[in-house]
Amino acid sequence: MGVSDGHAWWEDAVVYEVYPRSFADSDGDGVGDLNGLRGRLPYLADLGVDAIWLTPFYPSPLADGGYDVSDYCAVDPLLGTLADFDALVKEAAASGIRVIVDIVPNHCSAEHPLFQAALASSPGSPERDRFIFREGRGQDGSLPPSNWPSSFGGAAWTRVPDGQWYLHMFDTTQPDWNWDNPAIPALFADVIRFWLDRGVAGLRVDVASAMFKDPELPDNPPGQHPLAPSGYRHRAELQALYRSWRQILDSYPAGEFPGQRTAIGEVWYDVPGTLAPYLQPGGLPQLFNFQLMLVPWEAGPLRRAVDAAQDLAGGSRAPWVIGNHDVPRPATRYALGLAHQYESTLPRGPIDTDDARAGARRARAAALLQLALPGSAYIYQGEELGLPEVIDIPDEARQDPVFRRTGGRRLGRDGCRVPLPWRAGPSGPSWLPQPPDWGRYSVETESAEPESILILYRTALRVRREHPALGRGGAMRWLESPPDSLIFSREPGFVFAANLGQTAIPLPPHSGILLSSGPVTDGSLPPDTAVWLARG
Ligand code: GLC
Repeated sequence: MGVSDGHAWWEDAVVYEVYPRSFADSDGDGVGDLNGLRGRLPYLADLGVDAIWLTPFYPSPLADGGYDVSDYCAVDPLLGTLADFDALVKEAAASGIRVIVDIVPNHCSAEHPLFQAALASSPGSPERDRFIFREGRGQDGSLPPSNWPSSFGGAAWTRVPDGQWYLHMFDTTQPDWNWDNPAIPALFADVIRFWLDRGVAGLRVDVASAMFKDPELPDNPPGQHPLAPSGYRHRAELQALYRSWRQILDSYPAGEFPGQRTAIGEVWYDVPGTLAPYLQPGGLPQLFNFQLMLVPWEAGPLRRAVDAAQDLAGGSRAPWVIGNHDVPRPATRYALGLAHQYESTLPRGPIDTDDARAGARRARAAALLQLALPGSAYIYQGEELGLPEVIDIPDEARQDPVFRRTGGRRLGRDGCRVPLPWRAGPSGPSWLPQPPDWGRYSVETESAEPESILILYRTALRVRREHPALGRGGAMRWLESPPDSLIFSREPGFVFAANLGQTAIPLPPHSGILLSSGPVTDGSLPPDTAVWLARG
């Protein structure tokens, strides 16, 4: 896994996404923190991950879960100190775990000193030019400068008292930087070096598709896909910026831990082809591959999703994901037969028990699918516990601006951000309420149950590390398979099979069972079950 074999560690890494406020709380204030995470490094080492990605832990008014950053080079006092961060990096390294941090370059918090300076300055000032301030349209300028929508609902423009409008592709409290102003690329080059100098192995680049804006602010044509190339998405200028970031990454020594530095872009897209420019050589080393989240638990769509991702880039450059902090939990998506759609809504009522059980079985099978595919995989905290989406959070406890900005039409993302249950007994306070029965998903409970999903994940990661066909291993090849199943091989000697239908199917030819997501007897594979097979 070093660079010594000509490959970078990240090409087949299993990376664990930590949402720090919801991971582990060391001081009992209901909010997870860096010291809580430090205390749980042994848990992550046992799980067997190669790296952790921390979503933002920087000072922030928390209007968008920390993606509203008011200081890019510090730690929010609620979560700890820079010294805690340094200790985290050092202790993680001692367990062979690398740390990836989130860079949020599209926007900052309205409380960032540079935005405060812009508000205090007059139209046309250099302070305002760091952001995107414009006059409005209409006779008195009372109409927004363009019809661009905020991704969180409502318009992407807010008017200030002197009559100008500023652009925010997300919440009003998240003004977009003006990347055409050379001060902004310079600022972020410094931010990136600041964290790389502290020993981080990589960057996750937030909203990596949206930084540059067409200065003409062209209106979106009616009916345009929200993730299609537009005046604010997938602009050509991005690629020169990413080449300059790659140079920064490559200026750090690859020969010693943590190895070659990576950056992984969050680029949501309308069609996979939109990703092509991002994949040119010399730019961002990696991009998330969201294909598996865009389809329901059905063999045909899943197979096409895998093929689309493989054709485009493969899993080393575009790691596989089945969930993250923005998307309903896999167990619940699979229970309800949902794909994550950009504008998806979830029911608020209870989920039928049989559906929930099927969702839980499918989440186990999906884990084996994800971890058998070639390349790298990202696991979002709680997937290894099989946590469901919490769909019945009371309105007054919801925090995601999406809920508020859409008048509750979209429930938002709080349901996948509820703090992890560590103990079987009642949990302490938590910033989003934990369902009373969550002890059954706790690390304490699942660690003691040989059949738990946690043990399945631990075993899968161990087998994956040891088996030469897995990770970067041999290419995958689809094998002939009964309807509603997925079967592929990888060399040397590995076969994956999953049954997504209603009736059992025969196991494909094999010489042994390495691991299965559920009981497998008499050579047949039951519905909602996946298996890793050896073929001699
Ligand atoms: C990304 C993050 C999401 C955040 C948004 C705005 O999509 O993953 O959580 O709300 O960017 O920063």
